[in-house]
Amino acid sequence: MDALLITIDGPAGAGKTTVSRRLAARLGYRYIDTGALYRGVALAASRAGVAPDDDRALADLCRGLRLTFRGSGEGGQRLFLREEDVTDLIRTPEISLLASGISARPVVRGFLLELQRELGRAKRAVFEGRDMGTVVFPGADVKFYLDAEPGERARRRFTESAAATGQSLESVAADMDRRDRQDRSRPVAPLKPAPDAIRVDSTGLSIDGVVDCMLAHIAARRAGV
Ligand code: DC
Repeated sequence: MDALLITIDGPAGAGKTTVSRRLAARLGYRYIDTGALYRGVALAASRAGVAPDDDRALADLCRGLRLTFRGSGEGGQRLFLREEDVTDLIRTPEISLLASGISARPVVRGFLLELQRELGRAKRAVFEGRDMGTVVFPGADVKFYLDAEPGERARRRFTESAAATGQSLESVAADMDRRDRQDRSRPVAPLKPAPDAIRVDSTGLSIDGVVDCMLAHIAARRAGV
């Protein structure tokens, strides 16, 4: 088990991004943020004036899309829409909500499924998302489901993004709650732990505490425990 494919699923604000990035760096693996791909589609839809429930227009949009990750390292990869670096443009509250909306559409999920599997072919990667262990990589070598209490998740999101967005803690919590409900209740690939996922609750744990816990699980898996 030299080259592993590791998945980390969980709700917003559970610490997935920071943890996935650091875990990938510790292992010398690539870090793939699949939420960025949904956000990239959402940005393209917003620019093209495509409504999140217009499946035909979304299908046309996806056919012409070229989303790629470039660069690597602890800073993570940058997302490009054709030749444009959209990494920062996809982080607004509007795109967050729109991404949650379009991610419920099978046509969008089907398009991104192939792209994600292609990215995972070489393994040696940590994939972060909502359905990595359940749908995209059901055969992943190690699957984690990272969660934390809702209050703590909202506080973390607020600390991360308030300076940039000007949102209040209440508004961050309300947005998060709405997105979580959308993500958990959609009929296609809803957010839920894979049956064989290792559940980690990050409430009250430091990032390194979570990463060390995951590394211990990975070492145990490698040792065949
Ligand atoms: O992780 P994030 O907040 O950047 O994700 C943006 C949206 O995309 C989120 O509402 C859920 C959706 N998403 C998904 O449905 N499946 C994934 N694998 C990743 C993200």
